Amino acid sequence: MKNLKLAIVGVGNCASSLLQGIEYYKRASADEKSRHLGLMHYDVGGYLPESLQVVAAFDVDKRKVGQTLEKAIFAQPNCTTRIVDEISATGVTVQMGHILDGVSPHMADYPEHRSFRVSDEKPVDVVKVLKDSGAEVLICYLPVGSEEAVQFYAQACLDAKVAMVNCMPVFIASKKEWADKFKAAGVPIVGDDIKSQLGATIVHRVLTKTFSDRGIKLERTYQLNTGGNTDFLNMLNHSRLKSKKISKTAAVQSQLPVPLDPDNVHIGPSDYVPFQNDNKVCFLRMEGTGFAGVPLHLEMRLSVEDSPNSAGVAIDAIRCAKLALDRKVSGPLYSISSYTMKHPPIQVADAEAHQNVENFIAGKLEA
Ligand SMILES: NC(=O)c1ccc[n+]([C@@H]2O[C@H](COP(=O)([O-])OP(=O)(O)OC[C@H]3O[C@@H](n4cnc5c(N)ncnc54)[C@H](O)[C@@H]3O)[C@@H](O)[C@H]2O)c1
Repeated sequence: MKNLKLAIVGVGNCASSLLQGIEYYKRASADEKSRHLGLMHYDVGGYLPESLQVVAAFDVDKRKVGQTLEKAIFAQPNCTTRIVDEISATGVTVQMGHILDGVSPHMADYPEHRSFRVSDEKPVDVVKVLKDSGAEVLICYLPVGSEEAVQFYAQACLDAKVAMVNCMPVFIASKKEWADKFKAAGVPIVGDDIKSQLGATIVHRVLTKTFSDRGIKLERTYQLNTGGNTDFLNMLNHSRLKSKKISKTAAVQSQLPVPLDPDNVHIGPSDYVPFQNDNKVCFLRMEGTGFAGVPLHLEMRLSVEDSPNSAGVAIDAIRCAKLALDRKVSGPLYSISSYTMKHPPIQVADAEAHQNVENFIAGKLEA
């Protein structure tokens, strides 16, 4: 088994599920592993889930900064499901990141156990920490709307020559200016905005494509989502949502031969329901017309635990970033970005993205 050194920005629910999942696969028996266990890939070019070793972590919340990573992933306001009782000691202490626009002011109006509370520690030199730790890949799990903060950590990746996996909707891999910077620096990037293993986006995309492939004209659609984690609380501040809505809407519109008029499509986070915690519920409606203009309506409700739903996808994205480093490939990684992200540099149908990733892993496709 090969090793992979990972840095994490944002020790929230997604980071917690990722690390708990790695521990789960570490403890699983050979028999359980051979039965695949809910991952899209167990082995990616010799890297297994348990190959991932966290060597640095940054956050800004006073209940996480200064804590060991193994304690911080269970600290409030994290509320995702417990996969394992505890994770093995990592030897990593969560360090104070640069706040910038990471924390929305409205967070202060909500109870402490549900919301962010900023530490008064001084921020560390992120580039130095990345270099000293030997980190090879950084995964970005910052809150939606953290435009400046994501750009800050992207620049740190360029300066420290660390590959980046951008799981949130600030456009880095899919923005030419940033993609070019990564290419020029010789650093790979996967992004933007992670697409869950089986979540609202992939279901809505596949159904949209099926409508189109089977001659049904999609006339109108909505996707309403509710949840009770800090991701949903943060998104109550609608001024932070612009790129999230673009990302989620483009993911579906890209599956249609002719995109819907903006008045006929509504896709986005819709409300914060505290008792849901990390359970996300998606209400989906699609109105179409079929044979001879006869109407057809589809209603669907999908209920998932939000954070573990993206962790297996993240593990694939991280391992492909490392494969690119090993192969000295830089800039946006098109295949794995299309497969694992809602807003990749290039949108393709999911089946094609899947095949492209297989070809990339096998070394038949450069990026
Ligand atoms: N299935 C999924 O869960 C899923 C899918 C798609 C996208 N995402 C995106 O992934 C991101 C992370 O989601 P999450 O549920 O873990 O969020 P979260 O709210 O649980 O965690 C965010 C973490 O970032 C920290 N933070 C805030 N500002 C910071 C800064 N400047 N520097 C360092 N740390 C900072 C917070 O203290 C918190 O620990 C979100 O943008 C979310 O929209 C998640």
